[in-house]
Amino acid sequence: MFYFKGSIKISGDKSISHRALILSSMSTGMTKITNLLESEDIFSTLNILKLLGVKIFKDGSRWIVHGNGTNGFIEPEKPLNCGNSGTTARLMIGAVASNPIYCTFFGDDSLSKRSMSRVTKYLERVGAEINVTRGDFLPLTVKGSANLLPLEHQMVKASAQIKSALILAALNIHGKTKIIENIRTRNHTENLLKYLNVKFKISELKKGTNIIEMNGPYEIRSKDIEVASDPSSAAFFIVGALILPKSKITLNNILLNSTRIEFIKILKKMGGKITVKKTKNICGESVGTIKIEYSKLKGINIPSSLSSFLIDEYPILSIAASQAKGKTTMKGLEELRHKESDRIKSITYNFKRIGIDILEKGNNLEIHGKNLKIDKEIKIKTYGDHRIAMSFSILSLLYKRKLKIDNLQCIAISYPEFNNHLNYLLRSL
Ligand code: S3P
Repeated sequence: MFYFKGSIKISGDKSISHRALILSSMSTGMTKITNLLESEDIFSTLNILKLLGVKIFKDGSRWIVHGNGTNGFIEPEKPLNCGNSGTTARLMIGAVASNPIYCTFFGDDSLSKRSMSRVTKYLERVGAEINVTRGDFLPLTVKGSANLLPLEHQMVKASAQIKSALILAALNIHGKTKIIENIRTRNHTENLLKYLNVKFKISELKKGTNIIEMNGPYEIRSKDIEVASDPSSAAFFIVGALILPKSKITLNNILLNSTRIEFIKILKKMGGKITVKKTKNICGESVGTIKIEYSKLKGINIPSSLSSFLIDEYPILSIAASQAKGKTTMKGLEELRHKESDRIKSITYNFKRIGIDILEKGNNLEIHGKNLKIDKEIKIKTYGDHRIAMSFSILSLLYKRKLKIDNLQCIAISYPEFNNHLNYLLRSL
C-alpha cells in the first residue's frame, strides 16, 4: 500500500511564470526572476521572447531578463513556435499586436485544434491585421501596429487568457482601453502590473464583474519578480494525500490567490482534512502553507458558477470524486472541451476503462465513488494532456500502480519535477 508523507516545495506557478517573462520583457531595465517554472510551456514563451529581440539568460537559479519596453519587440526572423501552450499563443498574440511588426505563430497538433479567434477577433477590432487558418486556428500571422484603437471590450467568454491578451496589447495603445469581465477569472496579469507600479483602474460593476480601465502607452520600470508555487500542480499531491490512507503532507510556498484555490474549498466540502495558512505576500500575491491528511471523502454538487475557478483542477477533482462516498456532479464544463485535450472525453473514457461509474450529460459529469480492486493492468490514454497524465498517475498509486499511462513525457509541459516530487513523498507499507 502506498501513501504520501513529508514536505515538498512545488514548482513555480505556470500562469505567473508566463506573465513574469512577458512583463519583464516589456519593462525597461533588468529583471531577476526567481522560482520561474522551467517547463516546456514556459520555454515556449521564453524562446518566443528571445526571437522578439529580448535578452534572457539563466544565472545560477535565477533568470535574467533585459526588457525592451512596451514598444520594443523587433520583427522575428523565424515563425514563433508556441508548442502545446495555449497561454503562450493567446498572450503573445496580444503582446505583439500593438508593436509595428509582422509575426507568424504556430503550435503542435493539439494547440492547432484550439480556438484563436477568441483572442484575434478583439485585436482585429482595434486594428491589428491578423490572418487565421480556417478563421480560427494556428498557424496565424499578425501585422501589428503602434496605432491600435483604444476601445471598450465586453468579454463574452470567461477566460484569463483573452483578458490578458487585451491588457498586454493595451500597454502600448494610446488612449483609454476598457475591458469588462462578466465572470471573474484569474487575475495574475493585473496583480503583477500593480506590483510593477503600472497605474490603471479596476472596479467592480456588480459582484463578480470587473471593469479594467487602462490609459496607455505605459512605461514599465523593471522590478525583480519571485514566482509563488503552483496550486494547480499542488492539487495532484493534495488529492493524492486525501485518497491514500495514512498520508500526511505539508506543501510550502503555495500561491493562495482566491481565483486559484477554489478546489481546496471543494475538497474541504467533500470532507478533506486540509488546513491553509497564509505566510506572506510576494509580488502582489499571497502565499502560504497547506497541510493535508488522508480523509474519507463524500460526493458533492459543484455548480457551474465555479467553473472558471476550477478549470485546470477538474481532472484531479474527478479522481477525488471517484474515491468519495456517493455522487459528485460537476456542471458547466463546456470550456473543458477546449483544453489540451477534450478533458470531458479524456476523463470519461479512462474512468469507463477502469470501471468507475461516470455519466456524461452534455457538458456535465456525474461520478459515483466506488471501492475497486484492480488486478490486471489497464492502459490509460492521456491524449497527450499533462493534467490527465498526472491525475491518473496519482490514482494509479491506489491501485498498486496497475494503471499504465500511455504518455508520461507530456507531464514536462507543466511540471517536469512531478515524478521526482512524487517519489520524494511516496512511502509504502
Ligand atoms: C491560464 C488560463 C486558463 C487556464 C490555463 C492558464 C492563464 O485558461 O486553463 O491553464 O495563465 O491565463 P483560460 O483563460 O482560457 O480559461
